[in-house]
Amino acid sequence: MSIEERRKFLKFLFAATITSVVPPHKLLGKIFPTLKNKEDELLGIYGISLLDYPQLNDLWGSVRIKVEGTIMYYPKIIIVRVPKDDYNVDFICVSERCPHEGYPIKDLDPDTHLFECSGHGTLFDVTGKYVWGPASRDLERINLHYDGDKTIYLEIPLYPLTKLEEKKDLAYLHQNNPNPCSDITEIQFGCLSRSFVEIKLFDMKGNFIKTIFAGECSSAGDIVRFSVEDLSNGSYLYRMFINGKPFNTKKMIVTK
Ligand code: FES
Repeated sequence: MSIEERRKFLKFLFAATITSVVPPHKLLGKIFPTLKNKEDELLGIYGISLLDYPQLNDLWGSVRIKVEGTIMYYPKIIIVRVPKDDYNVDFICVSERCPHEGYPIKDLDPDTHLFECSGHGTLFDVTGKYVWGPASRDLERINLHYDGDKTIYLEIPLYPLTKLEEKKDLAYLHQNNPNPCSDITEIQFGCLSRSFVEIKLFDMKGNFIKTIFAGECSSAGDIVRFSVEDLSNGSYLYRMFINGKPFNTKKMIVTK
């Protein structure tokens, strides 16, 4: 694989999915980072356009972001628009991981503007500052730059560079798009080394339904298109196997 192909593969590997804050966490879009080396870290710079995510134009509006593939960072974060007069900034971005035992925080309470941990109830303010409960520490803040107009840039540490160079078996499975879906949906996946890949669909009890894809995968961005027309409404799991071993599982929602 050439250096350019590897770079392209890494952009796909570290793609971020943006979803709504309210269940069923509708997929709003996918963003690919600009990669940057900083000392022994690979950083991803993610540009989020306010034109694509109008939720962020509203005061207290928010979206959830999940960064795929990273091993340096808890991959789920939340970004909220806040009143500049009160916070001196337009946006705040925090990790969803509670520092107590790692449970995710719930959505921002619309009245109190507090986050509550889904594990043991610790409260944090919108800046991630600890307020009450067993965690006793703040949520992690993510570096953010807003250009004052249309784009927010997040800077996220992704991988130690030395470890990344050693890795030969990197792979990814993206969230199907659109999700929820009603007729055709697409699943993107990739493997750094030539491998035999299967993507299989299961119901939520783990019963096998059908094989979505089976074949060789070696490029940066294979995409399989899949019809859900013969499936009933509800939630499903699709699971990727590489050379027979389970690799990753995602949830697909069908609504017709
Ligand atoms: S994990 Fe959050 S309070 Fe325990």
